Amino acid sequence: MKITLSVIKADIGSLVGHSIVHPTSIDIAKKELAKSRDIEDFYVTHCGDDLELIIVHRKGINNKVIHKLAWQTFMKAAEKAKKMKLYAAGQDLLVKTFSGNIKGQGPGVAEMEFNERPSDPIIVFMADKTEAGSWNFPLYKIFADPFNTSGLVIDPKLHSGFKFEVLDVLKNKKVLLSCPEEVYDLLALIGAPSRYILKNVYTKKGEIAATSSIEKLSKLAGRYVGKDDPVCIVRAQSGFPAVGEVLEPFAFPFMVAGWMRGSHHGPFIPVAEKNAKCTRFDGPPRVMALGFQISNGKLIGPNDLFDDPGFDKTRQEANVMADYIRKHGPFEPHRLPSDEMEYTTLPEVLKKLKNRFKKI
Ligand code: 13P
Ligand code: 13P
Ligand code: MG
Ligand code: MG
Repeated sequence: MKITLSVIKADIGSLVGHSIVHPTSIDIAKKELAKSRDIEDFYVTHCGDDLELIIVHRKGINNKVIHKLAWQTFMKAAEKAKKMKLYAAGQDLLVKTFSGNIKGQGPGVAEMEFNERPSDPIIVFMADKTEAGSWNFPLYKIFADPFNTSGLVIDPKLHSGFKFEVLDVLKNKKVLLSCPEEVYDLLALIGAPSRYILKNVYTKKGEIAATSSIEKLSKLAGRYVGKDDPVCIVRAQSGFPAVGEVLEPFAFPFMVAGWMRGSHHGPFIPVAEKNAKCTRFDGPPRVMALGFQISNGKLIGPNDLFDDPGFDKTRQEANVMADYIRKHGPFEPHRLPSDEMEYTTLPEVLKKLKNRFKKI
């Protein structure tokens, strides 16, 4: 019987400012999920100020019961967060009543359904202070770059490549590209991660290999309420890239959009679960990776994969990059380009100057 892995997340309020989820919110989420008879297992954590629910069940993706469980869990935690006057309590819960599917209501969702393998390693990536398209770069490296993933060259099970589903969030369209044949076409799109977002990666036989949350919070809300702070699930080993190949792209702290007020570029810094805590200039943007073995529907683990001195140099490099780019202050390319700033509070400031512009 197939299992479904659902990772559903929301910012329901935080301590202090946009830094971390309060331990009480995590306790509430654990209690709510423990009560459910509809799920096989769960793990609750946080990445910065985002509450993360990792759920295993057998109901398939987009299931109403599971989405409702997550929604009610967030609502319960937000209720208490409001009482405690935590910061931006209820931030990502954009609607009052649940529609039946959590998509489009604020929280981020990544889900996949698959047959459990004889041994089934999976990695859940969770990020804070960045946008949904931030997985484009690592997913490309993991599944299409032989300089990252030696298995694409060496392992006959990976050698034929993978298929990539890309969403155009401006036009609400999607396209499926096959690699390595169409690698340049893929890069032509996903090199612009604010518009083109990699949603799914499949094997050439059509089996799911990776999936990400693609919710653009500012577009859903029509104004800036916070960044997307996306999640991503990647399957590893036995026909998929090895765990180390999945982690390897994060050894380079590539630049992502987000950070302070969701308005700045900054290095994506890989951190241990205990360091998933945004402080400096509300960041820098960070990513954590928890590895699990799925065993008869249960989550064995986690193994906190970036809690490794092997990533110390990456973190140092990220800090050097953070110093460098921070020195630009309010100038681009630290500040995001103008079209991205439309969804921040900047247009309100510019409105004031509108009538003072004279023809030249
Ligand atoms: P093992 O020989 O330890 O199973 O490792 C194989 C592998 O894929 C390492 O990346
Ligand atoms: P979040 O998107 O993590 O809530 O952060 C919002 C923000 O404005 C940080 O400066
Ligand atoms: Mg927040
Ligand atoms: Mg956040």
